[in-house]
Amino acid sequence: MINNDRMLIQGGRPLIGEITVSGGKNTSVAVIPATLLCEEPCTIENLPDIEDVRELIGILETLGVKVEYVPGQYLRVDPKGADGYRVPYSLTHRMRASYYLLGGLLGRGCRAEVAYPGGCEIGSRPIDQHIKGFTALGAEIEDRGGYIYAKANRLIGADVFFDMVTVGGTINVMLAAVKAEGSTVIYNAAKEPHIVDLANFLNSMGAQVKGAGTGVIRIRGKQRLHGTSYTVIPDQIETGTLMIAAAATRGDVTVRGCIPTHMESLTAKLLEMGVRVGEDGDSIRVSPLGEQRAVNIKTQAYPGFPTDLQQPITALLCGANGNSMVTETIFEQRFKHLDELRRMGARIKLMERTVLIEGVRELYGAPVVVTDLRAGAALVVAGLMAKGITEIHGTSYIDRGYEHIEDKLRALGADIHREPI
Ligand code: EPU
Repeated sequence: MINNDRMLIQGGRPLIGEITVSGGKNTSVAVIPATLLCEEPCTIENLPDIEDVRELIGILETLGVKVEYVPGQYLRVDPKGADGYRVPYSLTHRMRASYYLLGGLLGRGCRAEVAYPGGCEIGSRPIDQHIKGFTALGAEIEDRGGYIYAKANRLIGADVFFDMVTVGGTINVMLAAVKAEGSTVIYNAAKEPHIVDLANFLNSMGAQVKGAGTGVIRIRGKQRLHGTSYTVIPDQIETGTLMIAAAATRGDVTVRGCIPTHMESLTAKLLEMGVRVGEDGDSIRVSPLGEQRAVNIKTQAYPGFPTDLQQPITALLCGANGNSMVTETIFEQRFKHLDELRRMGARIKLMERTVLIEGVRELYGAPVVVTDLRAGAALVVAGLMAKGITEIHGTSYIDRGYEHIEDKLRALGADIHREPI
């Protein structure tokens, strides 16, 4: 859905108070297609009320799954008898995670026809490793006319060695392999928290997935999985965005309902900058200490610094004292926020994949355009820091991944609202 609105932020107010983080986007978009792997009802709680979740639920319905969705409460799906296996472009072009329908449908009925996924334009984003994994499991894959056709008589467990760490590839192979005959071993697997959450979800359906969270995942396939009730983990990237927004406004914010161990790479960088970060059970408190220092950051697969926080932390570093370097190693074009930050007074240069940032005393509000989800988060952070009014266009990108972001920020004292264009 394209929003006909703009977000207006009057910056310069410190964020103060407590806020509860929503359920994880990137875990939800894996768990929803995973419900296709059984013939019994599944109930999922803590899904974030975001566009990506609503679109995936819509896709399940077109495949014949019965759906009862109460946003903010639960999703109940009954995949019994669902016999669809084709997902057209009209349903995939806005969302990257639609590629998980390939793994889910292959695991379900050994057949999938899924249009190439869309999603944020942050680099070339090939899916050759997913296809290599499916092929190893015995599927025949044809890539024709913008669709991927995947078919197998039966799936048979195999060793899959990824050429690079891929979150999507790891998830997709897990989805197919839990229903394959025999054992699958995924080497060089991604270790992100949502990989572990998906494994826990699959195991709650009776699957046997071991080693998730390490570089080697071992799966013993099962002919049949059963229904389950499951609560997805909190969103690591929303937690990080709120922590960064707190630091950016020199505020004092406690993020509740998060998992502090998932945040260690960000916490370490904030501490290095001179921001106070305290942990207590499932809460993290970010509060000011003094001057914020420039730092250098390189994005890495988990547990390294997440690429999804590269854009928001770049905004924060625009106001730090000194020169920072932020190197993006995962997505080669995740820099479309830089031109917009420059309009707001940021002093930044891009050298290949490294952003050179010279901290400035203040940013100022300007009209800016969002080009991808985390660029949107970066511009919201910049808007909160800036003097004057920032006018953000392209808010639909933000709504794909952040649940009610302006309500949450307003609850912390931000002056932020939307109005129609
Ligand atoms: N890659 C390949 N071939 C493949 C798969 C990946 O060359 O078959 C490359 C990619 O081009 C990239 C790198 O490997 O350079 C890593 O890509 P990965 O597969 O890990 O990313 P993804 O599955 O496309 C997911 C998240 C992203 C997040 C990345 C990295 C979902 C739906 N998407 O993408 O989330 O940035 O992992 O953690 O889970 C976001 O939330 O804003 C977002 C973009």
